[in-house]
Amino acid sequence: MTDSTSQAWAALKALEKPTLAQLFAAGDRLKAFSEKLDLPGGAIRFDWSKTHLDAAHVAAFETLAEITGFAQRRAAMFAGDHINITEDRAVEHTAQRGVGRESSVEEAEALHLRMKGLVEAIHQGKLGEVKHLIHIGIGGSALGPALAIDALTRDGAMVDVHVVSNIDGLALEAAFRACDPATTMVAVASKTFTTTETMINAASTLDWLRSNGVADPYGRVVALTAYPDKAVEWGVDETRVLPFSESVGGRYSLWSSIGFPIALAIGWDEFSEFLGGAAAMDRHFLATDGAANLPLRAAFADLYYTHLRGCQTRAVFAYDERLRLLPSYLQQLEMESNGKSVMLDGQPVDGPTAPITWGGVGTDAQHAVFQLLHQGTVLLPVDFIAAIQPGDDLSPDHHRNLLANCFAQGAALMAGRAAKDPARAYPGNRPSATMLCDEINPATLGALIAFHEHRTFANGVMLQINSFDQFGVELGKEIAKAIVAGDAKFDPSTEALLAEAGIS
Ligand code: F6P
Repeated sequence: MTDSTSQAWAALKALEKPTLAQLFAAGDRLKAFSEKLDLPGGAIRFDWSKTHLDAAHVAAFETLAEITGFAQRRAAMFAGDHINITEDRAVEHTAQRGVGRESSVEEAEALHLRMKGLVEAIHQGKLGEVKHLIHIGIGGSALGPALAIDALTRDGAMVDVHVVSNIDGLALEAAFRACDPATTMVAVASKTFTTTETMINAASTLDWLRSNGVADPYGRVVALTAYPDKAVEWGVDETRVLPFSESVGGRYSLWSSIGFPIALAIGWDEFSEFLGGAAAMDRHFLATDGAANLPLRAAFADLYYTHLRGCQTRAVFAYDERLRLLPSYLQQLEMESNGKSVMLDGQPVDGPTAPITWGGVGTDAQHAVFQLLHQGTVLLPVDFIAAIQPGDDLSPDHHRNLLANCFAQGAALMAGRAAKDPARAYPGNRPSATMLCDEINPATLGALIAFHEHRTFANGVMLQINSFDQFGVELGKEIAKAIVAGDAKFDPSTEALLAEAGIS
């Protein structure tokens, strides 16, 4: 950490920390901290007024952003510079939605055109009858497709997609039970085309097709990968390999051919709207400076809570059933990106990096974990996400109560309530932020995801870490491989477990 960065942090830590009640009493919080962003799929309101950010903190965080080179790093990312320094790679997921280095945007457009051709051929029945797709992938090759398909196909899907990620055979068996082998296609989604879980699940799916009368199981496979040669070597016909650039990180890959199952389920036009919503957020992020930049402002609040208030977790609650998978999507995005301990220069970080992201769906979570939010001993910032338009056709009572509960939680956390009986008292002064969409549709979902990608990036810049590698996942993988190969000795505890389970 440079002297100027240390000074910026010292200045931040020295600032007074008014309560939320004091902040609301002191000025127009909505004017300063709540913004409505008009986007292609409708507006999203980003209300950060119930956080503890004030003008002084914002100014000090703007200084930190300047010192850590936020504007330059943002420009470098969109220019396709190799900002992922440990892997010597560009970071170009935004090019997938048309924003970035010209040559990368053109390459992405050409690959999308190829994907569109295959998606439309399947929809038109040119590859025979296709009713089901088993999409096999894990991490970034599964979480994005699962989220988008779950969110956007509530009225039915053009093809019935089953996303299978876990190596536990139960997951694949559930998909087999739901699909007719005669009308099932398989997508093998893996950036590297080496991931053990995916390759074992893919092989078992071929066996299932074969043993159920499909003469040429490979003829049913589409490969989605940054390493097309590996897919061809594995047996996929090259006409059904949909490549994407190595510069698209796994957890940022749903915009690339990893989004093939999304396009197959919702149709190409809607998939284009999904990309368009994300592109609109890219343009906001690229063109807006200081705290008016909404992902950057959110990152200011994130760092306020981790560094200035010692918060170890941040929770996100979707008050919309369609977004129930968003918390697990965000867990990978945020924790795999920023769960780091060294800075760009290899020095240990001085202070916390990513908090633990967790969450759930409202109103279910209220009846399970909100007790701790209101009266527990930890302070933890909460994000609420909701939509004004309901997704259901039932009585308006459902949606009115859903939204009433969402807004009630934010109000209650902030206001609290005094009581004579301490067990019945609520301390209040507990922060939350709310994202309120006009509606949930492909474009708003795209914008919401892109908002979180940029928020994660902005956090990483100010923490001076590389948000785009993930070496922390490798050691466990290597040890698992050694166990399966039976060629390693471990500690007595691990050896005993292996012996008990009969796999040593
Ligand atoms: O092990 C972590 C990870 O590399 C993630 O970053 C990635 O999204 C996932 O595994 C799957 O990788 P792949 O797409 O290469 O199969």
